[in-house]
Amino acid sequence: MNTFEKNTIVNTVDVKLGSASYQIFVGPSILQTTGEQLKNIFDKIGHCIIISDENVASLYLDNLEDSLKCANIKCKTFIMPPGEQSKSISQLNIVLEDLINSGLERNTPLIAFGGGVVGDLAGFAASILLRGIPLIQIPTTLLAQVDSAVGGKTGINSKYGKNLIGTFYQPKLVLSDTEVLKSLSERELRAGYAEVVKYGLINDKTFFSWLESHSESLLGGDSEITTKAITFCCNAKAKIVAKDEKERGIRALLNLGHTFAHAFEKEFGFNNSLLHGEAVSLGLILSSQLSYKIGLCPENDVIRIRKHLESVKLPTQAKDLPHTNFNSEKICSHMNKDKKAKNGWPNFVLMNGIGEAEVKSVSFNTVNNLLNEFFTD
Ligand code: GLY
Repeated sequence: MNTFEKNTIVNTVDVKLGSASYQIFVGPSILQTTGEQLKNIFDKIGHCIIISDENVASLYLDNLEDSLKCANIKCKTFIMPPGEQSKSISQLNIVLEDLINSGLERNTPLIAFGGGVVGDLAGFAASILLRGIPLIQIPTTLLAQVDSAVGGKTGINSKYGKNLIGTFYQPKLVLSDTEVLKSLSERELRAGYAEVVKYGLINDKTFFSWLESHSESLLGGDSEITTKAITFCCNAKAKIVAKDEKERGIRALLNLGHTFAHAFEKEFGFNNSLLHGEAVSLGLILSSQLSYKIGLCPENDVIRIRKHLESVKLPTQAKDLPHTNFNSEKICSHMNKDKKAKNGWPNFVLMNGIGEAEVKSVSFNTVNNLLNEFFTD
């Protein structure tokens, strides 16, 4: 625990990766400490780059720039269009050329200031520019604070699928200001909550039970509960990433629900009709059903997971999708291109029950039948 200023308690999470170790700070009003924090980790920092999107910049860019100014750090800011469709090779190219043109150098820190899209794209740009420049993540959505800004996955989408082009590249620092979540739409906050639930399902039944009794406060904006939940998720992720940074083993558990989710997102063209977290919610439902079908997960747990996701108004059934003008084979064909696929078909992260996940191989027919049932229910 750390106190930046009176009455402002900030939690600290250590991501232990040897010489690439870094800290995550979680709590209210952290944004205004950015300048001071950068001075703590970079010797003689004089300037930096910010990448943000139009929505975040219009709300919070002044606060970030003021904090840097107070610490005598000059910055150049680049703004990109919001939304998953910006995670494209064409947008990446624009960002790369703009940054090179700005005269950045190898030691110029790049601040990714936004949600998952900004974090993934700016993180990828940082990892390949001049063979790698320092990256700072300042995530501004619940989804990015609990998941995408932590652990070093960066990337963009391909026309063939989600996050198929990317790198592992750890940030030097993550600053998660819980105050900025207050301006998220209800829909975006709920979508981020699906990733919070994921941590309970993978890792910790007690956390899942805690969520069942605190989801209302969390989604209602209670700062203490929000800080607690984000800190829990970051700690859980930090432990997994410390053991398996490049996803050769245990880190794959963090993909619970994501193989289904990415296939749905691909089907809907990565547009806002289906947010990533909404797709994850459906993916969690399908993973629990698949786990039950092959005799891993007790039926009561499947029912409990559905009940909880329904209670927070996340999508749980096919009729919650924007449309279903496609069939189960189409979804399976998207899964063939999942980056975890081996020999043309992915393994699945399944649950032995709430709080215990494992990777299993499941046949095409079993998954296809499950999807058929899902679409006809
Ligand atoms: N979002 C899953 C991971 O970072 O491994």
